[in-house]
Amino acid sequence: MDKKVIFSGIQPTGTFTLGNYLGALQNWAALQDEYNCCYSVVNMHAITVRQDPKDLRANTLSAYAMLLSVGIDPEKCILFIQSHVRTHAELAWVLDCYTQFGELSRMTQFKDKSARHPENINCGLFTYPSLMAADILLYQADLVPVGDDQRQHLELTRDIAERFNGIYGNTFTVPDGYYPKLTARVMSLQDPTKKMSKSDDNPKSYISLLDPPATIVKKIKSAVTDSDSLVAYREGKDGINNLMSIYSAVTKKSLEQIENEFVGKGYGDFKQAVGEAVAEALRPIQEKHAQLMREKAFLEDCYRAGAEKAQQVSQRTLDKVYKKIGFLPR
Ligand code: TRP
Repeated sequence: MDKKVIFSGIQPTGTFTLGNYLGALQNWAALQDEYNCCYSVVNMHAITVRQDPKDLRANTLSAYAMLLSVGIDPEKCILFIQSHVRTHAELAWVLDCYTQFGELSRMTQFKDKSARHPENINCGLFTYPSLMAADILLYQADLVPVGDDQRQHLELTRDIAERFNGIYGNTFTVPDGYYPKLTARVMSLQDPTKKMSKSDDNPKSYISLLDPPATIVKKIKSAVTDSDSLVAYREGKDGINNLMSIYSAVTKKSLEQIENEFVGKGYGDFKQAVGEAVAEALRPIQEKHAQLMREKAFLEDCYRAGAEKAQQVSQRTLDKVYKKIGFLPR
């Protein structure tokens, strides 16, 4: 039987965090043998918020190199940069015409982002979910690994696909979300009730995958915790719970093993150990990234080949759509 298709995307805004790695990217790499995976650096989504062109260019290349550094293999997957593949913008326009104003108005991410950027509530921010639907539907994806914050967008993608199929007959695979149990939900180091986010204003709240080891240890040491001194996974100990799940994710130790390891020791020792373990886990990724960033020609070859494959696969879907809706062939 054919392998199922997986699609996911990540925005090249700022450097990726430990949360991106443990919550998503590590898993992307793990899926590539069992599935036909398509992964994209979604720079078109990124411009829904104002970007400095120089930074966007640099961040896109760095993000692409980071996906390779965490172990995504361009021989096994289709790994590409969204703006290199025309079909995304083209299908997004069509899907815009099959998406209701009311549906987009109900998207909580749109409401949050427009509250945060009241000076730039642009139409792209509003139609962001139909571009995301185009990303997914072009590849006939069966499964879409996303975080909880994207659940609503994925639901809308399913609705759009079902609506289109309902009108024109089977055109799109209706995708399911893929929410693996094994990935850690990494919280902010400064407010452990919030998800760790690269767009947080306070850099002490997140660990960048490119932070040097000393910075990592320092940030973990200044993570907000409670006022007792018991290293234990318990309700109400959000800060410690977060550090314990990070430690568990990078060392593969169980929570129970971790509790035992730190019996009679304080938070100082625990945080030191977490910091060092994270730095150690990121070291090979950082080395690979630094090496790739010196090999610009290799990166270019890689993303060109990825774009070509993506173009080919996605064009088949776009052709089908154009035909169904009555666009005269050229
Ligand atoms: N909106 C997603 C996010 O911010 C990124 C994204 C764009 C995406 N297109 C996608 C994720 C398609 C999964 C599938 O996280």
